[in-house]
Amino acid sequence: MATVSFDKATRIYPGSDKPAVDALDIEIEDGEFLVLVGPSGCGKSTSLRMLAGLEDVNGGTIRIGDRDVTHLPPKDRDIAMVFQNYALYPHMTVADNMGFALKIAGVPKAEIRKKVEEAAKILDLTEYLDRKPKALSGGQRQRVAMGRAIVREPQVFLMDEPLSNLDAKLRVSTRTQIASLQRRLGITTVYVTHDQVEAMTMGDRVAVLKDGLLQQVDTPRNMYDKPANLFVAGFIGSPAMNLVEVPITDGGVKFGNSVVPVSREALKAATDKGDRTVTVGVRPEHFDVVEQGGAPASLSKDSADAPAGLAVSVNVVEETGADGYIYGTVEVGGEPRDLVVRVSSRAVPEKGATVHVVPRPGETHVFSTSTGERLSD
Ligand SMILES: Nc1ncnc2c1ncn2[C@@H]1O[C@H](COP(=O)(O)OP(=O)(O)O)[C@@H](O)[C@H]1O
Ligand SMILES: [Mg+2]
Repeated sequence: MATVSFDKATRIYPGSDKPAVDALDIEIEDGEFLVLVGPSGCGKSTSLRMLAGLEDVNGGTIRIGDRDVTHLPPKDRDIAMVFQNYALYPHMTVADNMGFALKIAGVPKAEIRKKVEEAAKILDLTEYLDRKPKALSGGQRQRVAMGRAIVREPQVFLMDEPLSNLDAKLRVSTRTQIASLQRRLGITTVYVTHDQVEAMTMGDRVAVLKDGLLQQVDTPRNMYDKPANLFVAGFIGSPAMNLVEVPITDGGVKFGNSVVPVSREALKAATDKGDRTVTVGVRPEHFDVVEQGGAPASLSKDSADAPAGLAVSVNVVEETGADGYIYGTVEVGGEPRDLVVRVSSRAVPEKGATVHVVPRPGETHVFSTSTGERLSD
């Protein structure tokens, strides 16, 4: 087992002047499950391949334990990698596929058999050891690919979107299996996915990348509760956090008909930058519905006892069973904006209705409109 550290690790592909991975700094603890996540092309695979030794490192250092492996060949790094296309050898049995790397390394036959049988037991593959890959389901093949990595007892597991070839249901069950297996084995693991749900459910910590730049490394909980910038705020969570640019007023921000109090420090930080607006983030589950009815927003706004909050006209209603989501439109500063609000599954409004919502105090996020950085604590 070992720690892994990326220390300003940079990869610039030949012919490109922009780094695919730009001064990446991450310290991964011994036994930790770290997930690299971000949209396609953000540099996840490149980062993993740099750690594997499959990609040159053009700047900075990569360490496994206290060894500097930056320029070591892959075979000297004591890692095992599971790819998206786990390409098993079709003419070999499951057992031979799993033991192949050990055979190449000259490990005695009896020892290989023992390790393969142990791994098969862990992965629930014992009864399939003599089968060929084509006689296995997708999920079983994926487990064989895991088995190939496990038998090598590496210091670090590297996995690049290992579940992408599985159907949605199998992906969910396999992700749980992989995460619990990793915890049982306690082997430091770096796992790449573009799927933020996978990242949040599997990782001890999650590292979000965008355009080759690390945005935030944090526990799933902190990533959700305190996204460091607008990008992370919009990327983590489904349905995504509502992000609305609103004017700064005395003591808060003007959110439709109400002034929502936000931290003084956050507003001061914004005005110090010369900004007149901030971007406020509210997760769909952090709105309270203050009144429901069919009256058009324009009427309620003019009446004396105008309901507080944002008038959301409901365009689409989505019921998932446990929850309901409304996808609506609100007017902020005269502009129509999309808004997603989670409502109780027992009180889901009709399409076309208008509901009034207020962000729950203490559950708002404030970001700088000009730089995107988080201003609230
Ligand atoms: N072999 C390569 N040569 C040149 N550019 C590459 C190569 N591999 C990846 N890239 C570029 O580097 C960036 C990061 O790619 P990659 O690490 O594969 O992203 P991800 O795995 O997050 O989708 C992308 O812009 C991609 O086009
Ligand atoms: Mg990739």
